[in-house]
Amino acid sequence: MQKRRILVTGGAGYVGSHLVRKLLSRGYAVRVLDSLLFGDASVRELSENADFELMKGDIRHIEDVVQSMEDCYGVLHLAGIVGDPACELKPDVTHAINYEATKIMVEISKYKGIKRFVFASTCSVYGAADDYVLNEGSVLNPVSLYAETNLRSEQIILRGFNGTDVVSSIMRLATVFGASYRMRFDLVVNILTAKAVNERKIKIYGGKQWRPNVHVEDVAEAAITLLEVDASSVDREIFNIGSNEQNYRIAQLGDIVRQCIPGTQVETVSESPDPRSYNVSFDKARHVLGYRVGRTVKSGVLEIEKMFKAGLIENFLDDIYYNVKYRYK
Ligand SMILES: NC(=O)c1ccc[n+]([C@@H]2O[C@H](COP(=O)([O-])OP(=O)(O)OC[C@H]3O[C@@H](n4cnc5c(N)ncnc54)[C@H](O)[C@@H]3O)[C@@H](O)[C@H]2O)c1
Repeated sequence: MQKRRILVTGGAGYVGSHLVRKLLSRGYAVRVLDSLLFGDASVRELSENADFELMKGDIRHIEDVVQSMEDCYGVLHLAGIVGDPACELKPDVTHAINYEATKIMVEISKYKGIKRFVFASTCSVYGAADDYVLNEGSVLNPVSLYAETNLRSEQIILRGFNGTDVVSSIMRLATVFGASYRMRFDLVVNILTAKAVNERKIKIYGGKQWRPNVHVEDVAEAAITLLEVDASSVDREIFNIGSNEQNYRIAQLGDIVRQCIPGTQVETVSESPDPRSYNVSFDKARHVLGYRVGRTVKSGVLEIEKMFKAGLIENFLDDIYYNVKYRYK
């Protein structure tokens, strides 16, 4: 039987490079459309796999998108400029990639007869929200261009697929952590761990802000679940992806890292430059999808420590690991 082909945009990125391997191991054929802002090292070894195709291209270019969707069953749309600081660098480019290109993705998906469309949005859309526990119906308060463009893309997708045969779902991801094939050290758990392992010192800015967390492997699992579950329960639905147990204040994340990496000193600076704080409910994904995460923050910290011990990361301060530093090289 012919394998179902899934297009993963942004498949060479931190989340994508993990996800494509999981899709291949689950018996899918995978095509990646990625402009390779961070190179192709994260997926290079997959070039030998007959079920894997890498297409260097841009989601802003209609011809690239049309070609990439040829013979695809589903689309997992992850490509974008990711993170608040990277998005602020060139707002017009961010707007074009994170928002305008979503319209192209939606229109071409309809034209190409795509069956399933899953978009990776972010819990950042909740913004600065004090201590309330937020769910998918809560009032949104995006405080950055990154969050704002993701929110507008959600709306494009919900509206654009209305009344069509394309089953679409939105994942609002918690902040991701853990080892991947394109590492990022501009994510809170990953950078705290890198600093603890390499410098035995971490700095906590503020510390009271809530941040939900999810392992990169659990994100991949969620995306595949949304491709596979009964259409009626997920069509044009939004799901927070993470777990209630892994909503932590930043200071608590610092404590976990300190406990995992003995000898780590924690310095707390009272002010944080980042106003985001959101405590999120993940009940909907649990009840509707039966979704449960398999990894804890602690396991992610230990896994990243292992990467360093194995010599897999030469210099965690290298620009390649930071979206804002590397993007316009
Ligand atoms: N990592 C997180 O903590 C997190 C949290 C919430 C949501 N998300 C969402 O998950 C998705 C993936 O994030 P990530 O952490 O893997 O980011 P990443 O920066 O590692 O990956 C993004 C990928 O998109 C590609 N890309 C950028 N512009 C493109 C374009 N115009 N055309 C084609 N490809 C392009 C890049 O080359 C890169 O490989 C994003 O949509 C992001 O908003 C991530």
